[in-house]
This record gives sequence, C-alpha cells and structure tokens, in this order.
Amino acid sequence: MYLFGASGHGKVVAEIAEEHGLKIEAVIDEDSSKTQLLEYKVTQNLPEDHSEMLISIGNNQNRKKIAERYPNFNYIKLIHSGAHISKRAKIGEGTVIMAGAVINSETKIGKHCIINSNSVIEHECEIGDYVHISPGAALAGNVSVGEGSQIGIGASVIQGIKIGKWCIIGAGAVIIRDVPDGVTVVGNPGRIIG
Ligand SMILES: CC(C)(COP(=O)(O)OP(=O)(O)OC[C@H]1O[C@@H](n2cnc3c(N)ncnc32)[C@H](O)[C@@H]1OP(=O)(O)O)[C@@H](O)C(=O)NCCC(=O)NCCS
Repeated sequence: MYLFGASGHGKVVAEIAEEHGLKIEAVIDEDSSKTQLLEYKVTQNLPEDHSEMLISIGNNQNRKKIAERYPNFNYIKLIHSGAHISKRAKIGEGTVIMAGAVINSETKIGKHCIINSNSVIEHECEIGDYVHISPGAALAGNVSVGEGSQIGIGASVIQGIKIGKWCIIGAGAVIIRDVPDGVTVVGNPGRIIG
C-alpha cells in the first residue's frame, strides 16, 4: 500500500498500517524537499491506478483535493486494533480510526475522515466526508457533522446537535446549539467567533 502525505499525522497512520502487517511501498508527497517518513521513502512518483492508498494529510481541504484529483486509487480504511467499532457502524473508504476511539451503534462515518485517538462518537451519529474528530473529542448520540468540519481536541457535543459543513469547533468547546456551515466556534457554551 501507499500513503499520500508525509506528515506527522502520516507517521501515526503508518504505524496503524504496520500493526496490520501491511507493507508500505512508499509515501507520496508533492513537496520534493521531503525524502523520508519514518523508514519509508518519500517520492513524487505516483503508483499505478487501483493501488491501495490512504491519504495521510491532516488538513481536511487538502485531503479532499487529493481524493478528487486521484479518484482511481483503491482507497482503503485503516482501523487501529485498540479502537472499538460497533458491528452496526458503517465506515467509509479512506477513513482512518486511531487507538482508543469508540464508535457506537448505527453511526455512519463518511469517506476520508480522521477519527482520532480516544475520541467517542456515540450511537446514530452521521459524520460527513473529510471530517476530522480530534483526540478526546466526544459526540453524544444522534449528532451530525457536515463535510469537512473539524471537531477540536477535547470538544464535547451534546445529543442531537447538527454541525454544518467546513466548520471548526475549537479545542475544549462545549456545543449545545446547532452550528451553521463554515463558522468557527469556541468556548463553553460554544460561541461563533468567525
Ligand atoms: C478555534 C481555533 C481554530 C482558533 O484559532 P484562530 O482562528 O487562530 O484564533 P485565535 O487564536 O486568533 O483566537 C481568537 C480568539 O478566540 C479565542 N480562542 C481560540 N481558541 C479557543 C478555544 N479553543 N477555546 C476558547 N477560546 C479560544 C482566543 O483566546 C481569542 O480570543 P480573544 O479575541 O478574546 O483574544 C483554535 O484556537 C483551536 O482551538 N483549534 C483546534 C486545534 C485542535 O483541536 N487540534 C487538534 C489537532 S489533532
């Protein structure tokens, strides 16, 4: 398999692949000043279509850009063995789930998401494509998160809340009201700052 993105996030993703015994052939990165990620060679040469690939870029917009530019790779999902995933949860292609994450019954996670370490996504949540749920964030039941949004580290979202597309929820925020598209929200209770 290949990773796309020689980032710090890529190192964590690489270690999940290693844990599953997957062979990382190379890491693709458009930045030619990068030559190495952990023990893996970084290259600008793309593998052939249908190669197994995971986009290991933390920035949600850039992950989307690469997925749309290269639709013919075989995007796999990677799930750390220390995550708990309900058998009734659905996980989209290209999504990575880190150690300690909990995803409960009938939750749907979109494509190319990052579900980071120790985050909790309760029952019946709907998580759009290219979302990042940061470490330690917690979503109660029936929460929806629109495409491309990031829920910051340690943020909490009460049950039934709808968060729009391409939002940023700040570190440690407590979200008790719906959030419209494209805004940044911080604090407890969460307030829009931009
Ligand atoms: C919300 C966030 C994106 C704002 O970043 P920013 O646009 O650069 O904003 P600034 O740092 O200029 O802060 C703007 C104001 O919001 C406040 N603020 C910023 N982040 C805040 C937070 N998480 N909680 C409470 N207040 C916050 C600042 O104190 C500042 O207030 P002031 O205008 O009264 O001085 C950022 O602070 C944040 O929390 N990012 C999440 C990071 C994260 O979870 N990373 C995980 C990676 S795995």
